[in-house]
Amino acid sequence: MNTIMRDLTAGPTPLLENKRILLIVAGGIAAVKAPDLIRRLRERGAQVRCILTKGGANFVTPLTLASLSGEKCYQDLFSLTDESEMGHIRLSREADILLVAPATADIMAKMAHGMADDLATTALLATDKPVMIAPSMNVMMWTHPATQANLQTLQTRDVRIVGPGAGDLACGEVGDGRMAEVPEIIAALARFFAKAPNRGPLSSLKALVTSGPTHEPIDPVRYIGNRSSGKQGHAIAAALAELGADVTLVSGPVTEADPDGVKVVRVETAKQMMKACKDALPAQIVVCAAAVADWAADTREAKIKKDGGAAPTLKLSENPDILATLAQKGPLRPDLVIGFAAETENLVENAKAKRARKNCDWLVANDVSQMSGTFGGDSNTVHLVTADGVESWPTLKKRAVAERLAERIAAAFNHQSQHQS
Ligand code: C5P
Repeated sequence: MNTIMRDLTAGPTPLLENKRILLIVAGGIAAVKAPDLIRRLRERGAQVRCILTKGGANFVTPLTLASLSGEKCYQDLFSLTDESEMGHIRLSREADILLVAPATADIMAKMAHGMADDLATTALLATDKPVMIAPSMNVMMWTHPATQANLQTLQTRDVRIVGPGAGDLACGEVGDGRMAEVPEIIAALARFFAKAPNRGPLSSLKALVTSGPTHEPIDPVRYIGNRSSGKQGHAIAAALAELGADVTLVSGPVTEADPDGVKVVRVETAKQMMKACKDALPAQIVVCAAAVADWAADTREAKIKKDGGAAPTLKLSENPDILATLAQKGPLRPDLVIGFAAETENLVENAKAKRARKNCDWLVANDVSQMSGTFGGDSNTVHLVTADGVESWPTLKKRAVAERLAERIAAAFNHQSQHQS
């Protein structure tokens, strides 16, 4: 896999290559993210053409969008030159997807009601192509029943929604309404394009994902466990399935719902997890995201009584290392083995050492110090360690981390098959 990873760290996403994206930039502060969005899309081989609304032009200039997209930035519905060169109908049809980012409360309302009073809304009404929106607004505007009703209307018309996230808003308030981060929007587009043609880029591949904690019983009522929620592992299983992989998720005890389209095998202990993983082989992709307990206790058959004497001593024995076992050289070794490293200090250094020690191809290092809020939280800040170096990703929703990782996995296999053919 090493040659593949060299290309991966450069960041191409074949899923977006040559895709034509009509980006509609409406009038919200998140319009300032449009230049970065365009840059990242073009880095991935997408062609971007922009429509800038009057409101949007208060935050970003047409010249910036034109320079970065390498195309004229369209603004005026009644422009004689634009209409003769490129009618608004053609503009709305010569795209693979229309992306509204940021989508303000105003443009969402106009879309929901079929209004067409400027170039952006006219293109949105005239298009026969899929539409995705990245809402961005104040929290009260977002939660207002009018906006929520418009959102529902748009969803029933199959408009795809990415975000919004929670956080500090430009207005000084805090809450839902922050536009999805650029990587999240890119992941959503990649997923869209992966699903659109046939069954996705991982459709011929089997993936095995471990998730959640393990519980190591001490006696019939007590166990040794840890704080893993399974959110990250489950999201990875879901994201791989969305890209078409045949996914087996081996999960320790969690409250997370089973992801759609994934075969779930529930286990309690590390030994059971090890066996379920071996049973799921062969697989081309393995992602070990479970927080496997390092030690199992010598289980007592009856509940240990508190009899006023000395506290009982637990006899522990080391559990099998599932990741290291699966990554061992051999005929059943999957093509791509990915481990996680939950660390509280010296994150990247420890992750590099762990990658080598466990013989895995990629290692996703995440900070689980109490400050990070990773355990049980919805977000994760990770570093992807490969043979070629370390890539630090911004703080993303666990779902977005999963989608990005799945995208990278798809890119690796796509590249491999291109080289083999
Ligand atoms: O050694 P450490 O627990 O930090 O390694 C973390 C990585 O190894 C994770 O990918 C985890 O799923 C995997 N692991 C495993 N079996 C173990 C211990 C860890 O698969 N017994």
